Amino acid sequence: MADSVPAVAGPPQGRAAVIAGIGSYLPPDIVTNRDLEVRLDTSDAWIRSRTGIATRHVISPGTATSDLAVEAGRRALTAAGDPVVGAVVLATTTPDRPCPATAPDVAARLGLTGVPAFDVAAVCTGFLYGLATAAGLIAAGTADQVLLIAADAFTTIIDPTDRTTAVIFADGAGAVVLRAGAADEPGAVGPFVLGSDGTSHDLITVPAGGSRQRSSGRPAGPGEEYFRMHGRETYRHAVTRMTEASREAVRRTGRRLEDIDRLAAHQANARILATVAERLGIPAERQLSNIERVGNTGVASIPLLLAQAAAEGRLRPGHQVLLTAFGGGLAWGATTLEWPDVKAL
Ligand code: UT7
Repeated sequence: MADSVPAVAGPPQGRAAVIAGIGSYLPPDIVTNRDLEVRLDTSDAWIRSRTGIATRHVISPGTATSDLAVEAGRRALTAAGDPVVGAVVLATTTPDRPCPATAPDVAARLGLTGVPAFDVAAVCTGFLYGLATAAGLIAAGTADQVLLIAADAFTTIIDPTDRTTAVIFADGAGAVVLRAGAADEPGAVGPFVLGSDGTSHDLITVPAGGSRQRSSGRPAGPGEEYFRMHGRETYRHAVTRMTEASREAVRRTGRRLEDIDRLAAHQANARILATVAERLGIPAERQLSNIERVGNTGVASIPLLLAQAAAEGRLRPGHQVLLTAFGGGLAWGATTLEWPDVKAL
């Protein structure tokens, strides 16, 4: 009987998304803790001890998220050998404008006019949500290769007078090219553990500029166009969610925490990273970190960390890697992969 059923074109069976190249970009201007001491009631000692940050990169006036995204995207494409890309996904918290999405502009500037291109908004978890989205596009047969870029010009939404956020957040971009492959290949991503809790949406927020404020008939209040974060409470959620998501991601792939060679967690705060790693039992030499040099770069944090660590040899082919992130939404996630033999630019 089965022979008489007409063949229907469906998604290719069992296609996984495999990392084929990675790139990153940091704007050249650097702000040190000493620079911040001059204009804020803060100190190098406080920032280092409470966050682990010493320097961060910031955009120059006139630069936008798309400019960072194009640079990182181009590097990832070069690293992957300039493949034919069938879709562009841009994870960002700081789109160039509220409408339209920034991804089509980025795609066009990369010579990819015509392919589907859209933004993913999941704040600091955007790279993991974007990775899952890109993997879905590949699994469904929508595209054979996807360029995923994660870029944030975070300093454009930070209140320069707010010492609790201005010392932490910074700018940067990272990107990966994903290609269709098999789930058991090095570089295959997923399964993904993703979650959200919108009941705490106000812990991390930019209150003005959206439909809620605009439809209220009330102009934006002072400073409402800026990013606000309830630091201490966010900290608590970050530790719990990243730890739980990590355990679940490792369990789902049949790995054990002892098998993890490298933890690449969203670089939110060095103390958060240390606590998550300690709860997971992952020793210091297996943790990747660049927060001291780049601060918290939002969605760019994980791909930037992976690209730098791979280029510097701290992340090597064959390493079992655990990725985890947490941020506004609230949203969180984790996944695992074996690091592939790819170029990192
Ligand atoms: O990426 C998305 C997810 N983001 C996160 O996960 C970030 C989570 N939160 C954090 O990283 C930390 O909560 C912060 C770094 C934001 C703050 O560190 P904390 O250890 O939680 O400090 P706190 O907010 O409890 O403040 C302690 C003290 C306060 O003074 P009092 O009330 O004890 O007198 C603050 O006013 O530190 C003060 N303070 C500062 N002092 C000097 C806050 N920011 C600063 C500063 N310099 N920049």
